[in-house]
Amino acid sequence: MHADARSRGRLKNIVAIYPGSFDPVTNGHLDLIRRGSKLFDKLIVAIARNLDKSETLFSMEERKEMLVAMTEDLDNVSIDIFEGLLVKYCIRHGANAVLRGIRAISDYEFELQMALMNRKMEPRVETVFMMPAEQYSYLSSRIVREIAKLGGPLAGLVPAMVEERVRERVVHRHISATGKHLL
Ligand code: PNS
Repeated sequence: MHADARSRGRLKNIVAIYPGSFDPVTNGHLDLIRRGSKLFDKLIVAIARNLDKSETLFSMEERKEMLVAMTEDLDNVSIDIFEGLLVKYCIRHGANAVLRGIRAISDYEFELQMALMNRKMEPRVETVFMMPAEQYSYLSSRIVREIAKLGGPLAGLVPAMVEERVRERVVHRHISATGKHLL
């Protein structure tokens, strides 16, 4: 690091963590991962093992597998699974930033609360917000799961490989629960 930069507390070699549930990964997440991979030296996409979310579509390993497949061309991006406090995970991995996407004002309140709480717990980690491309501003994993369950179109919302896996899973769950095929 250049002496001047060091004395002003500037960071070099920024490692960022992009945490989330990714159940499943959407085109909005992938858009943000691509933007983040250009900005940071290293980006770790960290799938949170969330004990509160009982109704998940995919296991942690399945989510990881899809994210790995969708980011294999990005050599500074890696995919991991974590549990416990995000800031502790950041420190263990030498990360100085958390990347989060903000789609609309409605995201802001929760994201602000999380960013400030994380900063209070660990001032060495900064949260960086990025906006996905506007065509993804209404997109979320929750809405993808809901559309899939109701048999709606997923094209353009998730990559084709993810769409196939989502459909398989939803159809399988529906048949297991009702004994009937989806219309
Ligand atoms: O995709 P999501 O559900 O919006 O991601 C939320 C996530 C996983 C980033 C958040 O719940 C999280 O950081 N969980 C790890 C536990 C933690 O550190 N909680 C304190 C946050 S202030």
